[in-house]
Amino acid sequence: MSRITELLATMTLEEKIGQLVMVSLGAETIVTGPRAAEEPTVEDVRSGRVGSVLNLVGRDRIHALQRVAVEESRLKIPLLFGLDVVHGYFTNAPVPLGETAAFRPDLWEKTARLAAEEACDDGIHLTFAPMLDCARDPRWGRIVEGPGEDPTVGRAFAAAKVRGFQGADPASPWSLAATAKHFAAYGACTAGRDYASVEISERTLHEVYLPAFEAAVKAGCLAIMPAFVDIAGRPMSGDHGFLTDLVRGRWGFEGIYVSDYDAVGELVAHGVAADMVEAAAIALKAGMDLDMESRAYPDGLKPALERGLISIDLIDETVARVLRVKERLGLFEAPFGRGDPARPAASTRAERRAVVREAAAASAVLLTNRGRVLPLAPEGGPIALIGPFVDDTAQMIGPWSGLGDQDEIVTLTAGFAAAFPGREVRVAEGCAADHAEDDAGAACDAMLIAEAEALATTCDVVVLALGEPSELSGEAASRARPGLTGRQAELAARILALGKPCVVVMTCGRPLIETELLKKADATLVVWYPGSEGGRAVADLVAGAVSPSGSLPVSWPLDVGQIPVFFGERPSGRPFVLGEHFTTQYLDVPNTPLFPFGHGLSYADFGLEAPRPSSPAFRAGEGVVVTTRVTNRGARAGATTVFLFSRDVVASTARPLLELKRFETIELAAGETRDLAFTLTAADFVLLGPDLEPRLEPGRFDLSVGFSADRASLKTVSVELLAEPAVA
Ligand code: NOJ
Repeated sequence: MSRITELLATMTLEEKIGQLVMVSLGAETIVTGPRAAEEPTVEDVRSGRVGSVLNLVGRDRIHALQRVAVEESRLKIPLLFGLDVVHGYFTNAPVPLGETAAFRPDLWEKTARLAAEEACDDGIHLTFAPMLDCARDPRWGRIVEGPGEDPTVGRAFAAAKVRGFQGADPASPWSLAATAKHFAAYGACTAGRDYASVEISERTLHEVYLPAFEAAVKAGCLAIMPAFVDIAGRPMSGDHGFLTDLVRGRWGFEGIYVSDYDAVGELVAHGVAADMVEAAAIALKAGMDLDMESRAYPDGLKPALERGLISIDLIDETVARVLRVKERLGLFEAPFGRGDPARPAASTRAERRAVVREAAAASAVLLTNRGRVLPLAPEGGPIALIGPFVDDTAQMIGPWSGLGDQDEIVTLTAGFAAAFPGREVRVAEGCAADHAEDDAGAACDAMLIAEAEALATTCDVVVLALGEPSELSGEAASRARPGLTGRQAELAARILALGKPCVVVMTCGRPLIETELLKKADATLVVWYPGSEGGRAVADLVAGAVSPSGSLPVSWPLDVGQIPVFFGERPSGRPFVLGEHFTTQYLDVPNTPLFPFGHGLSYADFGLEAPRPSSPAFRAGEGVVVTTRVTNRGARAGATTVFLFSRDVVASTARPLLELKRFETIELAAGETRDLAFTLTAADFVLLGPDLEPRLEPGRFDLSVGFSADRASLKTVSVELLAEPAVA
């Protein structure tokens, strides 16, 4: 008999339900540091009423609680410890949206690996990451947590992160089980308002929001977290069609569903369950395995069984899945295996610091560089470094930063001092990052702005460190007007009025809609929340030690009224024609974003030749290779990302104007030329037919290459997908 069958045969109902319960030891453990395990939880663990824990940190505390489970509980089943290890545990890489801008799956994987090693060392088994929500609405604060607007990027990100967190073998002491979240379409919540209902077409769901999750399943992710939201009245936490029929049935998912915080209980608030008992029954029947922190499973499953709403077989099946994941993680053999000092992690601290520094540099996006004001010369007059983001450690690492060791964070002030040994760097706060509530605060800002102005007049160039405070980015951080906060806009206007060369370094977790400023500043470098080594990485870019190479993973709107604005729109029957009234357009702002998806400048100067197909016509089985020649015409080395888009010109349902098929980031020395070849196979031409089933439709495809999704600058070639010869 297998261990799981044997266990199930001896477990009481309470012990079975206990394996489906995950409790939090309080988010404050993360903020204020480790604290002792709380007594009630210890008792719950001892009696088998709790099988998983989140938010407990610190190896000693985790091991102490694990010891209660494996030594003092009747069945000695190990606990599963989970935490949001999103972009680092101690050492932080840039936030995920920022990291996506690097367009480097190798880096995405590496930063997940180093986070896994640090978290495992502390005894964590499961991370609630990667977040794979496609997001096309920067009003939604959680756009910061995911890979941006495009499903192809989402797929690549999913696979890289699952590989990075889980490693080759989930039972290794350095593997962290990954949770693909939030399944699905959370990013499409109404008007960007967090937790609000989702209303999208089934086609968009399948074509845009689901692919990243399917990729995570294919990569072997051990867990999935259903989203808080409902899609057209179907709350994800209780939907059998999505969780079981689609993901387990069609995709072959073999891991566990971990609910989002309180989400099972919230089925009552959604209005699909009358009480916690019904909520528990609905979720269990849908396929939800772990109830995170709602009282629905612990309080509701037993009465649900008594009421005949669920069967004991269903409970057993669910418990078996949870135990199987514990088994796959090697917890029965080595409950304390993680954080074993006798088995050191593969990387050293210095290596981890080097990786996050590289990631921060590769993530920054140079939006503008008028008159090539950047990079700043190594020698010269003083540099004014001004703004509320110059020296605030928390603002460097942003939301969901794990334990993000504050003492180890390099701020801009420190980074600039190191990067410019030949120039004086004069620093001023400029104003507070948030809005002053009272007169004293306003007076303080006025004084800080005046001081900054005076300081700027003594310098040759100003670097303005502006942005969005990290408290306004992430969960429950929707903003109707995502832009600079407090009096930063006024500070910027006053500094710009001095007429000095002015570079904006923007710290943010989403596109900030500050069109005026972005048009006026001489250069703008978006650095997101760049992580533990952010100050050094950003200073390297400003000083030119490294050339910027990041590309926007999301279109940057010119005006809030354009939202959602994204490149994968379907064509209109009345495409926009300048000066023609009855074509698709706004009367007050352009249709196009301020910066398109993929935009990002460099100190190098890249050119791209028209793509050449291996054959102008091909059959699906043969595929087609598209080659383009990239040249660095500049005097400096640099890296850039080349995108390959396709457009299915005539199909049974209208296809998007552009569909991203491939991207590749390459580094070229000054003057270097290289051919990039993209191989497209039948799968790249598959579309979902009117019945949403995959199919191939022969005909013309326009294949375009470019450095962004700006249609005017793409280079295009048409190819023909031939019909298969009829079988005789
Ligand atoms: C709520 C968030 O939606 C989710 O992303 C996170 O993993 C859980 N809380 C646990 O912290």
